Amino acid sequence: DERLWSAAAAVLAGNDAGGWTRAAPRLYPHQWSWDSAFVAVGWAHLSVPRALTELRSLFAGQWANGMVPHIVFDPAAAAEAYFPDPARWGTRVAAAAPDRPTSGICQPPVHALALARIAAVADAAGGADVERVEAALAELYPKVLAWHRYLATERDPQDSGLVSIYHPWESGTDNSPRFDAALARVAVGDLPPYRRRDTGHVADRAQRPSDAEYDRYLWLVELLRRAGYDDGRIAATHPFVVKDVLFSAILVAANDALGRLAARIGAPAADRALIAGWRDRGRAAVDARYDPGLRLCLDLDVRAGSPVAVRSVAGFAGLVAGGDRLPELVAELASPRFLGDDRLRWPVPPSTSPADPAFAPRTYWRGPSWPVISWLLWRSLVAAGRDGAATALRAASLDQVGTAGFAEYVEPFTGEPLGSPNQSWTAAVTLDWLA
Ligand code: DGY
Repeated sequence: DERLWSAAAAVLAGNDAGGWTRAAPRLYPHQWSWDSAFVAVGWAHLSVPRALTELRSLFAGQWANGMVPHIVFDPAAAAEAYFPDPARWGTRVAAAAPDRPTSGICQPPVHALALARIAAVADAAGGADVERVEAALAELYPKVLAWHRYLATERDPQDSGLVSIYHPWESGTDNSPRFDAALARVAVGDLPPYRRRDTGHVADRAQRPSDAEYDRYLWLVELLRRAGYDDGRIAATHPFVVKDVLFSAILVAANDALGRLAARIGAPAADRALIAGWRDRGRAAVDARYDPGLRLCLDLDVRAGSPVAVRSVAGFAGLVAGGDRLPELVAELASPRFLGDDRLRWPVPPSTSPADPAFAPRTYWRGPSWPVISWLLWRSLVAAGRDGAATALRAASLDQVGTAGFAEYVEPFTGEPLGSPNQSWTAAVTLDWLA
């Protein structure tokens, strides 16, 4: 579909800040970590060098401990453009923080998946892009390895194979009901006053997280800053600690991709063994989070010591990680609780199941469908050899973006576009589906 292709390319061009891409024109005017990895996949189909530049600029914000921050700020943007701003994050208190302004938390590690996809696009085209990819791999592979090492060690002091997150924003699925109980237990202390900037950029503030959630989000930032962004201190004292199954599963898939890239560039055998070990341990750990009652993988609320019994799209973690629960999860995805709900305008996964009591069809991660999540599940189905389900999901997704445009998220029953228009990652995954 040429019209859709040009429209998607125009969104990336419009959000291109020169070497990095705004996640959205107004709502997210900086470089977001996982957004930028998906965006790089989109750029690969327009220009492999530009795709590689996207990842290079993101990794220029990497911390000395290996963490890739969830936001690399545009120093030229006005402070009022986005909140919390660099001053609020105050990352200078952290020994590991770089000179440039970044946030102090991270997001799911989709970067190795992006690199592998860019490499595949270059390989298919051949020519000079293949050499550019080789050069970029020599530079980026050690950085991605350091990022995965950070997650496997600092973020998993228990050696469990599951990543601890310290803020719902780290999951990328900010206000998912997965975090309701853990967040409700966070008692907000002497929070410095603030003014939200996000709600002014959407048609209706009910599409965004609530003020009560924002107070807790900001309080968690305050606590992380007061702990000097020191992982050891945070692991010991922070009130919000969740073993996030989707984040952990993405790390498994990313380690699988990184292992293949390591082999390609002839990385030391010790690296490859380490990466394979992380992958296998993570895959087994995600499988062990499978709940036969809900037929989904469940997060672990570490402070409460209990599984989080919510029907959300994160429950398909075992599909993303490619483990032994694949048949059950593929069946659950097709069930009336997800794609088989005949009220859905398109059979694409809602972020929270309509069968969950917390389902809210217009509110951010509490029900709307997110094309980027459809892409992640589509890619996982392809990797699992589930071609029929993958083809159907791709077709439904293209139908959705063709109608709703490149919205950040979509009301699953009516198809109404919600959140930001011209969201970069929605355009990027569309290009990948069309390619
Ligand atoms: C936001 O600002 O809503 C982001 O999701 C947080 O990173």
